[in-house]
Amino acid sequence: MADYTIKVRRFQPESGEGPYWEKFNVDLEPSLSVLDALLQAKDRDDGSLSVRCSCRAAICGSCGMKINGQSGLGCKTQIGEAQELAEKKASVGSGDGTIVIEPMGNMPVIKDLITDMESTHWTKIRRVTPWLLPHGEPPEREYVVEPESMIDITQSMACIQCGACVSSCLSMEADPDFIGPAALAKAYRFVGDPRDAETKERLHDLAHDPHGIYDCTHCFSCIDACPKGVAPMDQIMRLRRKAGEEGIEDPNSGHHHELAFVKIIEKKGTLDEVALPRESFTFGIKGKLKPSKRAIKEVIGALPTIFRTIRRGKVRSKWIAPHHKLPGGAQDEVKAIYEHAEEHREEFNLYIKGEEGDEEAAIAEGLEPPPHAPASEEAAQ
Ligand code: SF4
Ligand code: SF4
Ligand code: FES
Repeated sequence: MADYTIKVRRFQPESGEGPYWEKFNVDLEPSLSVLDALLQAKDRDDGSLSVRCSCRAAICGSCGMKINGQSGLGCKTQIGEAQELAEKKASVGSGDGTIVIEPMGNMPVIKDLITDMESTHWTKIRRVTPWLLPHGEPPEREYVVEPESMIDITQSMACIQCGACVSSCLSMEADPDFIGPAALAKAYRFVGDPRDAETKERLHDLAHDPHGIYDCTHCFSCIDACPKGVAPMDQIMRLRRKAGEEGIEDPNSGHHHELAFVKIIEKKGTLDEVALPRESFTFGIKGKLKPSKRAIKEVIGALPTIFRTIRRGKVRSKWIAPHHKLPGGAQDEVKAIYEHAEEHREEFNLYIKGEEGDEEAAIAEGLEPPPHAPASEEAAQ
């Protein structure tokens, strides 16, 4: 057993007072969870301390909270590890070494650590039509699909709807209407499903919504927060890729912006922010301003942002300071990364290891059973 101090952000609406902090001392094995610590404090010190929980095994998704500023599950975070992180933060001048526990972010707080998941999470999940939309007569029994065709969506299917990604999403902080990481990961679950017949309509809808797939800023926070390896940002990137492959033009030029970004880095090694709007809005006319009506409108709309960023020194004006390519060797390395990515098309899916078609390696590592394994096992018995 070890002694720990937890500092909990509390809010008791019936008191009429605002939120406040309260410290509790608990004694637990370091391998027990932060949720265990909260339940001990509730049991021994204050029965009104409110926390939502059920399975205590990272399955039900009930106990989302922020621990030392990081969104995650209370039942999956060991108290010993939380203490180590609190001390590490204290060593760089952040906090006093006490484990800090708060309700999830980007959601209204109902009481203590209990947040309103309805308004910010479930409403958005419903927004993406989270069920199959097949066409034609339903089969007499179930829809039969090749198991391989479901591999792509295994990662998004692992979501337990805990809301930790929503809690940590930086775009959602700036735009509360952003559909958000959990709902967009759920959208990919159906876009990638071979039984769904409205893939294009779904992608069109999510690309045209100004709070849709192009509202994500690639901050990676949701990937860090997710306790189940769903990597919501990766699912959003898959949605974007599919929308691009379908030729869907979003009103914000989000797809062209991405292509321009990739092209500039490939060519120059670093981002030329002056070239970026030009390449994003005058697509297909490589470097030459031959704008369509829409492109003119987009560029004019972007002017205040361009001037603001130049004024604040975030962007170097081409005329003041021309953008330089990386020195030769470094630029070749960037190109080699591109070639490797193009050749291998690697997908980071924690539920699948290796490259497409690399079954032999998976079998050698014991990740896949050898072909006909059941038959040979039977023969051995
Ligand atoms: S990567 Fe995108 S969806 Fe994920 S937290 Fe950042 S802004 Fe939100
Ligand atoms: S994607 Fe991950 S963090 Fe987000 S709700 Fe699902 S399980 Fe939780
Ligand atoms: S209590 Fe079920 S996920 Fe934590």
